Amino acid sequence: MKLLKKSALLLLTLAFMASPEIIGAQEIELPAHETNSASMSVSQALATRHSVREYSSKELSAQELSNVCWAAVGMSRDDNHRTSPTAMNRQEIRLFVFDKNAVYEYMAKTNVLKQVVKGDHRDLLAGGKFPQKFVMDAPVTLLMVIDFDLFKSQEEHAKQMTCVDAGIVSENINLYCQAAGLVTVPRAQMDKEAISKLLGLSSSQLPILNNPIGYPKERD
Ligand SMILES: Cc1cc2nc3c(=O)[nH]c(=O)nc-3n(C[C@H](O)[C@H](O)[C@H](O)COP(=O)(O)O)c2cc1C
Repeated sequence: MKLLKKSALLLLTLAFMASPEIIGAQEIELPAHETNSASMSVSQALATRHSVREYSSKELSAQELSNVCWAAVGMSRDDNHRTSPTAMNRQEIRLFVFDKNAVYEYMAKTNVLKQVVKGDHRDLLAGGKFPQKFVMDAPVTLLMVIDFDLFKSQEEHAKQMTCVDAGIVSENINLYCQAAGLVTVPRAQMDKEAISKLLGLSSSQLPILNNPIGYPKERD
């Protein structure tokens, strides 16, 4: 009996050590991103990058999630610059993480995932009228949301710039995944209205692109 208790305690300790640090019910601290996690050069990633719509059920580790969020919109050379450039450095692209447990917002400055809503809502990303069901097979999807309040304008030119900025974030994700052995596809399709409602977005916040991310599906 004593031995059983000891093994249970050891298992619990190991599970805790393997998982990201849970700060409170609402926040998960990610491990610091790695800068040497990719196994190929930028040129190789550019030459081999392609969209993938089939995923293995293997989950991303907390380290992988940290790395890919950082590649998307993480802080780079100082605390006012990101891995992805934005027009006038407005940093208006917010990043949300959907997985089977919840939806979180990635807070770049603190490297924390802040829970926005509990539950599996990946079906909303799959799409409205003609859903792309493969999105639900990917363990994680990153959603890019334009925040026009952060951009400080909704003029036509500003709108164009924010879309360009979101595209750059998505390409950072595409290239990081290719280099790190993950697979993804940039997507515009999703149920924007339902997602806005779920995340409590205002009329000046617009879901624009998403990237399902996972490991390649094993071939038989
Ligand atoms: C802005 C944008 C939106 C896209 N939207 C979708 C989408 O909703 N669903 C999808 O399956 N693929 C989508 N794609 C992926 C393209 O179909 C894909 O990139 C293209 O066919 C070229 O293939 P490649 O990425 O393998 O080079 C999108 C790509 C871009 C750049």
